[in-house]
Amino acid sequence: MSQNRDQWGSKIGFILAAVGSAVGLGNIWRYPYLLYSSGGGAFLVPYFFALFTAGIPLMILEYSFGHKFKGSTPLALARANKKWEWLGWWPSFNSIVILTYYSMILGWAVNYLFLAFTQAWGSDPNGFFFGEFLSLSSGPFELGGIKWPIFFGITLIWFINWFICYRGVSGGIEKLNKVLLPTLVGIMILIVIRGITLPGAVVGLNKLFTPDWSKVMDPKVWIAAYGQIFFSLSLAMGVMITYSSYLPEKTDIVNSAFMTAFANSGFEFLAAIGVFGILGFMATSQGVPVEEVVTASIGLAFVAFPKVFGLMGPLGVVFGVLFFACLVFAGLTSSVSMVEAFASAVMDKTGADRKKIVTYTAIGGYAVGVLFATGAGLYFLDIIDHFINAYGTVVIGLSEAVIVGWLYGAHKIREHVNPISIYPVGSWWDVMVKFITPAVLVYMLISNLVTEFK
Ligand code: PHE
Repeated sequence: MSQNRDQWGSKIGFILAAVGSAVGLGNIWRYPYLLYSSGGGAFLVPYFFALFTAGIPLMILEYSFGHKFKGSTPLALARANKKWEWLGWWPSFNSIVILTYYSMILGWAVNYLFLAFTQAWGSDPNGFFFGEFLSLSSGPFELGGIKWPIFFGITLIWFINWFICYRGVSGGIEKLNKVLLPTLVGIMILIVIRGITLPGAVVGLNKLFTPDWSKVMDPKVWIAAYGQIFFSLSLAMGVMITYSSYLPEKTDIVNSAFMTAFANSGFEFLAAIGVFGILGFMATSQGVPVEEVVTASIGLAFVAFPKVFGLMGPLGVVFGVLFFACLVFAGLTSSVSMVEAFASAVMDKTGADRKKIVTYTAIGGYAVGVLFATGAGLYFLDIIDHFINAYGTVVIGLSEAVIVGWLYGAHKIREHVNPISIYPVGSWWDVMVKFITPAVLVYMLISNLVTEFK
């Protein structure tokens, strides 16, 4: 199997794909709100702390594990020690579970991309989204009442997921990212420029960045910072191990890990600036304080922003289209990585043909995604998202750090990456992986459990 394992065509192809996986909905609609609600400028302290103590060390860990053992997550772990294979299946399943709702949202974004051309949400985007749009399919059981438009988006998303992974690593995933990622960055820059030059933008940006140091004393804010770093960098999902298993022998792992992490953070900042510039404009033009217009996730993308585009005059159509294109492109490059993480694990295990496995995965994912594409999806979304992020990722990250740091041997990872990396990793890395990351994750786990049962 490993002899004819797919490979990236170039290092930049790999970096683009890894950044493509990292940059997603999490950067555009989760991060800006998190930054705002967790202490503004002061949040950067826990954020960078989490990035340097867990994000980058685990990224190096995942890259080197995939690169060294040349396998998707279960296979890579099994090659290190047969007993660890099970740990690899967990993130692989997690990524496909996340994808069911991730693809649902992406499907909605595709629909909105088309609606944006005519601003079909009208003057009441809230009523439109929760009423007309979601009730286009009022539930999987009312088949007669379902009209096709809501399924259009998710169908397109799964078709692209299938098509790209079917074509393989360099012929599909790499090509997709080479086109979409630069386009995405270009669009985001345009949105930011427009965002910060709108009247009232400054009000939004002030709200976003004014530091509230008292928040930094709250352990919840630290947990949120770690949560964001994990989700945003696609860590503990099997993606980065899988992607790095397609790397050629001589690849600078350390440098690649830093580049991915910084590119992802850079994009998050851009998004936060763009979003808050626009929200500042919205608040000013409605004569209300920024607090009243700030929302995250679904409310931001499908309600607040459509409203703002309505206020922007003729250019509103252009920026509406650009914004939804941005969501779709960012999300697609992430969703493809989740399909690949899962499909690759099954391919490695069964030795079956890529085309076959990818097709089955896409059919299964599509079937579940369609069930979610209804209003009912909103309820599942919160539940799944909560459990995966509060427990799944934390436990997997913890097991990774403990197994690789303590049982496999952190120093062996450094011995593997240092000869091929320009900047060798020092012993600080062992300290992070063996002590700091596990300590923080155990703390997160306990405090999540405590809040759950309170
Ligand atoms: N990192 C992606 C985002 O920020 C989400 C993601 C999670 C992608 C896990 C792949 C795996 O939206």
